[in-house]
Amino acid sequence: MSDRPPFTPSRRSRIAPFIVMEVLAAANARAAVGADVLHLEVGEPAGGAPAAAVEAATAALAQGGCGYTEAFGLPALRARIAAHYGDSYGLGVEPERVAVTVGASGAFILAFLAAFDPGARVAVAEPGYPVYRNILAALGVEVVPLPTTLATRFQPTPELLERVAGPIDGLVLASPSNPTGTMLPSAELARLAHWCRRRGIRIVADEIYHGITYGEPAESILAFCRDAVVVNSFSKYFCMTGWRLGWLVLPEDLVAATRRLAQNLFIAAPTVAQHAALGAFTALPELERRIDRYRADRAVLLDALRGCGLTRVAPADGAFYLYVDVGHLTDDSVQLCKELLEDTGVAVTPGVDFDPARGHRYVRLSFAGPSDEVARAAERLAGWVASRRPAEAAAAPAALAH
Ligand SMILES: Cc1ncc(COP(=O)(O)O)c(C=O)c1O
Repeated sequence: MSDRPPFTPSRRSRIAPFIVMEVLAAANARAAVGADVLHLEVGEPAGGAPAAAVEAATAALAQGGCGYTEAFGLPALRARIAAHYGDSYGLGVEPERVAVTVGASGAFILAFLAAFDPGARVAVAEPGYPVYRNILAALGVEVVPLPTTLATRFQPTPELLERVAGPIDGLVLASPSNPTGTMLPSAELARLAHWCRRRGIRIVADEIYHGITYGEPAESILAFCRDAVVVNSFSKYFCMTGWRLGWLVLPEDLVAATRRLAQNLFIAAPTVAQHAALGAFTALPELERRIDRYRADRAVLLDALRGCGLTRVAPADGAFYLYVDVGHLTDDSVQLCKELLEDTGVAVTPGVDFDPARGHRYVRLSFAGPSDEVARAAERLAGWVASRRPAEAAAAPAALAH
C-alpha cells in the first residue's frame, strides 16, 4: 500500500461540462438501440463540406503535401481570408494579422491567453455560448457574467457594462449569438466598441455565425475597432465542423505573442483542412444556397412553435437557433428535454448550458440539420407541447415579436 496522497485532477479542470454534448450522447444512445431520434440539439450544418473543399483536400493528399505548415497557416489561405474582409465587409485586413487555428475553439484559447492574464476580469453575456466562460475559467481568468434580456436583444450594452461592480479588462461578443441568434444592430455595435475602447476593454468578437443572417448582414467589429480580436471558423457558414479549422484576425499588438503561443500549443492547424478551406472559398454560391434552406427551415419551426403556444422566442436574426421561453411549461428545462426525448425522440438542448441562472426556463432548438428532419421534429414537438400545455398558457399573448 502506498501512503502517497491520491492523485486528483487540477482545480482549473473543474469547469462545467458542455451539456449539449451530453444531450447528444443521450440521443445517440437512444439511436443505438434502434429508437428513432430527431436532432434539434446540435448546431451542425447538414450537407457537410462543399464538394470543392473535399476535392482540394483529396488533391493535397494525393500530392503528399500535408506536412506541418507555418504556425499561422498556409500563406495562400491567410491571404484568402484577408481578402474575404474586403469582399464581404469592405474592410482592409493585412494577411500578416490572420492566424489559421484549430477551429474557433483553438482560436479562443490563443486569443484569451494572448490578451488576458490570470486574474483579469472578462465580461460574458448570459445567455451565451458556454465555452467562453469555461475556457476563461480554466485559464484562471475571472468571468464576469452579464445577464441580458430581450430588451437589449440578449446582447451586451454600455449601460449593462456600467452596472458591473469593479474593473473589466475584456468583453466577449457574439453577434449573431448562440443560443439566441440575435444580433447587435450596427449603430449599437459601434457604440459598444467605442465605449470599450475609451476604457481600455479588449473585445474578443466571435464572428462564427457571420454569413448566416436573415435580415441585415452582420458587421465585423473590425469596422469600428482595430484593437479587437476577431474569432471565426470554417465550421458553420462553410459547413466544415469536423475539419477543425478556424481563424483569428489579430490586432497588431497581439500578433507576435499569439504566434509564440500557436507555435508551442498547436505547431499549426491541420494541413489537409487548410487546403480544403482554400477549396471552400471557391464554393460561395453553393454555400449561399444553404442559407436559403436555413431561412425556410427557420420559418417551419417558428410556425410550429406559434401553433402550440410557444411564442416567446428570441428574434433569431442569424445563426440557426431558436431560444424559446418554456417557463409556462416547466421550471426545469433539463427534465423537460429528457421527457421530450423519451416521449418523442426529439432532442433539444436545455437553456442551462447557456445561462446557468435563468436557463431552467428556456430551451434551444437548432435548425441546422436536414430540412425533412427539422420538419418532422417541429411537428412532433408541437404535438407534444400542445398535449401538455396548461390551459392558461394557450391564452397567453405573444410576448416576443418576430
Ligand atoms: C458561438 C460558437 N463559437 C464557437 C464554436 C466552436 O466552433 P469550432 O467548431 O470552430 O471550434 C461554436 C460551435 O458550436 C459556437 O456555437
